[in-house]
Amino acid sequence: MAKVKKAFICQNCGANFAQWMGQCKSCNEWNTLVEEVLHHEKIEAPWQTASGKKRSAKAEKIGAIDYNEGTRIKAPGKELNRVLGGGIVPGSAVLLGGEPGIGKSTLLLQLALRLPFKVAYISGEESEQQIKMRAERIGIRNEDCYIITETNTDIIFGLLRDLEPLLVIVDSIQTMQAAAIESSPGSISQIRETASQFIKFAKDTNTPVFLIGHITKDGNLAGPKVLEHMVDVVLQFEGDQHYLYRLIRAHKNRFGATAEIGIYEMVNSGLREVENPSDILISKKDEQLSGTAIGVMTEGARPLLVEIQALVSTAVYGTPQRSSTGFDTRRLNMLLAVLEKRCGFRLGAKDVFLNITGGLRVEDPALDLAVAGAILSSDQDIPINPKACLVGEVGLTGEIRPVSRVEQRIREAEKLGFEAVYLSKYNKVKPGQYTIKVVEVSRLEELVGAVFG
Ligand code: TYD
Ligand code: MG
Repeated sequence: MAKVKKAFICQNCGANFAQWMGQCKSCNEWNTLVEEVLHHEKIEAPWQTASGKKRSAKAEKIGAIDYNEGTRIKAPGKELNRVLGGGIVPGSAVLLGGEPGIGKSTLLLQLALRLPFKVAYISGEESEQQIKMRAERIGIRNEDCYIITETNTDIIFGLLRDLEPLLVIVDSIQTMQAAAIESSPGSISQIRETASQFIKFAKDTNTPVFLIGHITKDGNLAGPKVLEHMVDVVLQFEGDQHYLYRLIRAHKNRFGATAEIGIYEMVNSGLREVENPSDILISKKDEQLSGTAIGVMTEGARPLLVEIQALVSTAVYGTPQRSSTGFDTRRLNMLLAVLEKRCGFRLGAKDVFLNITGGLRVEDPALDLAVAGAILSSDQDIPINPKACLVGEVGLTGEIRPVSRVEQRIREAEKLGFEAVYLSKYNKVKPGQYTIKVVEVSRLEELVGAVFG
């Protein structure tokens, strides 16, 4: 291997130095110097010598480039394909981020075990036995799934050259180590170097690579922000450790939309896809309780029914408390002000607690109406018909504004056996299309009359 030249490069201004310093001499920024490898292309990548699949270096007519949607590799199941925009693109680099224990390793090991071709699962975090244990738990046997427990990228690429897998999974990029760089694994320069090696491998051999990335306390992917720019797709695996549901969403996708989400449930045998998410988000109870309302939100193109719970009680302390889980508190305050001013409910001296069931975080303004409904229901102690759902954005004047994708929302409610849907009259739903009863309301005051009779 050629002698590697290294330098300390300022991440702020790009100046390079032979030595590390606390402050960059050129731009005077502190702690911006990071060790990097120079003349990167001179290092001979091991896979380039062996396989003849190296990318051509000539200009190609766009019409002559061979591509169709069918070249995407279909992952087993629907959820992952959905967030990836229809399957795994050959040669793509996908970064999967998420908090520890959320199920990143499980998700990708499951993928490796289910694919019908040779997959290399590289782990720098767990031993072979631990991975085997997990595979036993998932309960799928696959002779084509190879485990590599190694962190040195030179050794890894040597193994990959002989193995020639059709998909590579790296768990995690923070444990990988390029021999050319002395700093410890997980440092910015190591992450940057090893990630760029894996990405180059992906492009050169047309093999898709999944990189698992850790998340820092503040919710960002650990390591340089550049990592997100380098890869083609950034997926985020989220959910609450205490809830079983896991959401996967794309933050960046060069090959598809970023609006889609996939929903999984963590069970004893790994992650199970949730086919009918609305069904699990709504607690099925027999008795009618006040303070709950059902709303229909959309995530990507997908409608989801969610249950909203509110508790309104007389404030014990001088300043009433307003707290919400899963819903923006400022929006909650706005809705409370509208209810007070436009509908005459005295909520100013009351504590209001709001909860979106299932541990979901929601942003869709179409849930305003259900939030308002849940609050009023709790305040008045009158239950809302459990077979009704509320859809609409509430404006500052108390008007109920139309929402997008109304037809899909109504169909979802209908599918789940709801009997009535309340929505804005400005949505102009054509009558007679649905078996579900569509009730149009234009102002919040009207809702009060319609729901509580
Ligand atoms: P893991 O994939 O190790 O998370 P990450 O790689 O994101 O850190 O998932 C760990 C959690 O998942 C752990 O708390 C146990 C749980 N789990 C199950 O509940 N069922 C299973 O079948 C498996 C494999 C894990
Ligand atoms: Mg893990």
